[in-house]
Amino acid sequence: MKHLLLITSMMCAAASVFAGTHSVMSPDGRIELSFSNDGGMPVYAVSVDGRDLISPSALGVVASNWKYSTVGDVTVARDSHDETWQQPWGENKMCLNRYNEMTVALPDGQMSLRFRAFNDGVAFRYELNAPVDTLVITDELTCFKFATDGESWAIPANFETYELEYRNLPLSDVPDANTPFTFRTDADVFGSVHEAALYDYPEMVLRRDSVSGALKSDLAPLPDGVKAYVLGQFTTPWRTIQIGDKAVDLINSALILNLNEPSRIADTSWIRPQKYVGIWWGMHLGTQTWTMGPRHGATTENAVKYIDFAVDNNLQGVLFEGWNEGWENWGGNQHFDYMKAYADFDIDYVADYARKRGIELWMHDETGGNIPEFEAVLDSAFAYYASLGVHTVKTGYAGGFKGGYFHHSQYGVRHYQRVVETAAKYNIMIDAHEPIKETGIRRTWPNMMTREGARGMEWNAWSEGNSADYLCTLPFVRLLSGPMDYTPGIFDINYERAKADPGRIEWNGPNGHCRIKTTLARQIANWVIIYSPLQMAADQIENYEGKEAFKFFRDFDADCDWSEALQGEIGKYIVVARRSGDRFFVGAGTNSEGRSLNLELSFLKSGVKYEAEIYSDVAGAPDKVEITRRVVTSADIINIDMAPTGGQAISFIPVR
Ligand code: NOJ
Ligand code: CA
Repeated sequence: MKHLLLITSMMCAAASVFAGTHSVMSPDGRIELSFSNDGGMPVYAVSVDGRDLISPSALGVVASNWKYSTVGDVTVARDSHDETWQQPWGENKMCLNRYNEMTVALPDGQMSLRFRAFNDGVAFRYELNAPVDTLVITDELTCFKFATDGESWAIPANFETYELEYRNLPLSDVPDANTPFTFRTDADVFGSVHEAALYDYPEMVLRRDSVSGALKSDLAPLPDGVKAYVLGQFTTPWRTIQIGDKAVDLINSALILNLNEPSRIADTSWIRPQKYVGIWWGMHLGTQTWTMGPRHGATTENAVKYIDFAVDNNLQGVLFEGWNEGWENWGGNQHFDYMKAYADFDIDYVADYARKRGIELWMHDETGGNIPEFEAVLDSAFAYYASLGVHTVKTGYAGGFKGGYFHHSQYGVRHYQRVVETAAKYNIMIDAHEPIKETGIRRTWPNMMTREGARGMEWNAWSEGNSADYLCTLPFVRLLSGPMDYTPGIFDINYERAKADPGRIEWNGPNGHCRIKTTLARQIANWVIIYSPLQMAADQIENYEGKEAFKFFRDFDADCDWSEALQGEIGKYIVVARRSGDRFFVGAGTNSEGRSLNLELSFLKSGVKYEAEIYSDVAGAPDKVEITRRVVTSADIINIDMAPTGGQAISFIPVR
């Protein structure tokens, strides 16, 4: 009854709704984020250098058992923030978090909107204060109405998977999209729409609204059609728009991390970046199996070989997929045993051997989407792994969730978070495949190291694969959200070893035509370009043994102090530099066109001489790499020549 009265009074009182515009400027005064009222509908707008980027666009949350009032005056509070904070690991250990804030409380105090304007973008979120125990959220009204047309890059909206090809569409033609949704307007503003701090709420995708013509938020539903059940006092994830003058500005922005809360893990000394190898690629190529049998990959014998290889090559971790019982059920009833190793994988021996050799043994938990069974044993399985000295778990969700839940629904978000928090209790780091999108929660839960969440290397084994154009789009879209376990670095790019195997299985579809769609140098460069604190050399170790080019990965460090995307155009090319301690690494990559670039070395420490080891393409021989060395300083310029689908990787090691 109260609910009904409220709606009636709103309709009658349209004339007395709050008036006026309230805005907040970025610290450099270039970006303005404003809030106003459009006939009873709260709206926001964004301008850059005085030019409209987002025209007045709807704001609001709809619940079936609650309605806030827009009648009367709003209360506006202001704040500002300027802090540099440190993370245990990340592209940049130090992050500058500087913004101006405006909080607008709607007239009845039942909802506030918190707006933040940074030099690299804007964000806002809803803070709900409803007088009910449980809110039944049925829609979110947030719209993004672009003031000009432009170009966009994103995968289509999908509540089940992010392993989709990018679409490059005019802004005005986008029917739907997932986030990050990256754009360049006709006024030459670069930006990306995403979300930050996604907890206990479904993911947001964008869908063209037939009435307003804007891209409107759409939340992944639960099986009953409701979007989320939340407490009456609830704060939604941030809705974010990163903004820059150049495409690479988006990569260099820490906006998503800055919108997350500081770490909830006090002692982070056990959280350590790693380079790793694993029994993995053979299964995707179809020469090994996850299941026990003559081609089983995760055997004790192979484990020892991989551990020894890791020791000899300055790597820290090893992963063995197919170590546990249940793989016969993958794609069937999805029953896995998370505690029981196959008989030919002596887990106590392997764990002991890894520990003695100083190597981190990873566990792999493929769930096939069987969440109830995984959750039932989660605590005891992680306690067991911890007892073996394991600090890293790769999870997987390749299969539909039981009960008709979408991967990206509130149910999924809750599950993925439960895994991260349970893992933290046992000092375990997580690498999630088929995950929920990254929204910067690694700041708050720094054991949430990396995740998949896009087409990774595996697609090259059994599909048309990932093109060089795709790889030049990835850094400007998916990677804006955070680290990715792409599993880079295949050296046998034509799969010669697999093709020579007469018993090769056609796993996951025909694989005879498959191969890596880039040059070898680009495979090496991807270790730098695609940031992951757990960075894999994904090929079988036989393909690295005796290869001089593997030195790059031996020298490389998965731990990083500083990063900068130096040059790039979306879908065309990318150049990234990183520093780990006193070493620098550069990765450059191009799309299907060959390209020549000049790289100024001004990012190097001045006054220091470095030996630059340069891994370049060889014209006409994509499977070859040329390695040259020269001594350089920060005053030098290196010419980067890349073949079509090629790249270049450079390590800079101080000359002592
Ligand atoms: C898909 C994952 O992305 C891949 O890395 C893994 O090997 C398979 N699922 C099996 O779990
Ligand atoms: Ca996958």
